[in-house]
Amino acid sequence: MSNDQHWAKRTRLAQALGRMDEITRALVPPIHVTTTFERDADNAYRSGNIYGRPDNETVRLAQSIICELESGADALVLGSGMSAALAVFHALAPGDHVVAPKVMYWSLRNWLATEAIHWGLDVSFVDATSVSAVGAAMRPGKTKLVWLETPSNPLWEVCDIVAIAKLAHQQGARLCVDSTCATPLLTQPLALGADIVMHAATKYLNGHSDVIAGALVCAKQDEFWVRITRVRREHGMILGPFEAYLLVRGMRTLDLRVKAACANALELATRFEQHPLVAQVLYPGLASHPQHALAQRQMQGGFGGMLSLRVKGGEAAAIAVAARVKLWKRATSLGGVESLIEHRASIEGAGSPCPPDLLRLSCGVEDVEDLYRDLDVALRG
Ligand SMILES: Cc1ncc(COP(=O)(O)O)c(C=O)c1O
Repeated sequence: MSNDQHWAKRTRLAQALGRMDEITRALVPPIHVTTTFERDADNAYRSGNIYGRPDNETVRLAQSIICELESGADALVLGSGMSAALAVFHALAPGDHVVAPKVMYWSLRNWLATEAIHWGLDVSFVDATSVSAVGAAMRPGKTKLVWLETPSNPLWEVCDIVAIAKLAHQQGARLCVDSTCATPLLTQPLALGADIVMHAATKYLNGHSDVIAGALVCAKQDEFWVRITRVRREHGMILGPFEAYLLVRGMRTLDLRVKAACANALELATRFEQHPLVAQVLYPGLASHPQHALAQRQMQGGFGGMLSLRVKGGEAAAIAVAARVKLWKRATSLGGVESLIEHRASIEGAGSPCPPDLLRLSCGVEDVEDLYRDLDVALRG
């Protein structure tokens, strides 16, 4: 953590913490590509650097920024959001029980449903919007981790981090929150009681759809965190230096991008809620959202850039709308400056809680009138 905490986070973010290369006085940090480092003549490694798989100076800068954004004790940057999540699960022990949400990023849900058992993990899926359902799924002495994603993909349910952190801790479990869609600017899971926060840095943190990356931040550097650090090192999960450089560059504009995406999402959600061809809009910023009051408490400065529309006419109508847009891009992923639309059930497949008439929208930073008009025309066919 830096000593310059009196500057606002967005000020420090815009300047990538304001660090200067001491030799060249370069404002833009160099990319450290070396995989190995020279030992001192007396056999020591006084620089703190030994090899590129455990750590890298460009990665360390990205970590420092993310750590400061989440007000954490330490951060790790990894090769993808999935590798960040799996580093946490791989740090558990065989026989450990995990409570996870029914609505969450589909690829991680699939891993938990099909692969986790091969690591000896026992996973219960619950309605994580219900604190009592999470409580009922906990097994005293066995449950070691509760996983949350809020707002959750692709229904944008909001889970109560404060209440579930308390519950997890009472039972001796840790809470990890996938806060990808909230971003560190809208929700601070560690301040709300979570032990670890995870980001698919591929999304808002990088923001330009050109880097696959993941991040973890801990509230304290306990033995579990040390194990996660070992998993990253020994499984070779560190992010490459070029990608870390791009991530640092992307994060400089995080504040501007997230504000623009939130404003666009709220405006589109409000207008499409009145649209004659839309059956339902799912967005935590709408008063009609079942967890709107919780979202108001838990999220500051906006409700995120993600929303979903349920199209009247069912699956075929939804796919046809996605086929007709001209400005929105028909693509998976989210959190970039360009707006994306996706018929989500097509990608999630069997076992998905995603309704077949749902279109997931990732709002970028374009003009909101253009975004509305393009989708309105596509809906009307
Ligand atoms: C909420 C969420 N978590 C995790 C991931 C996984 O991230 P990555 O694709 O970088 O592995 C994604 C990817 O879409 C996501 O949306």
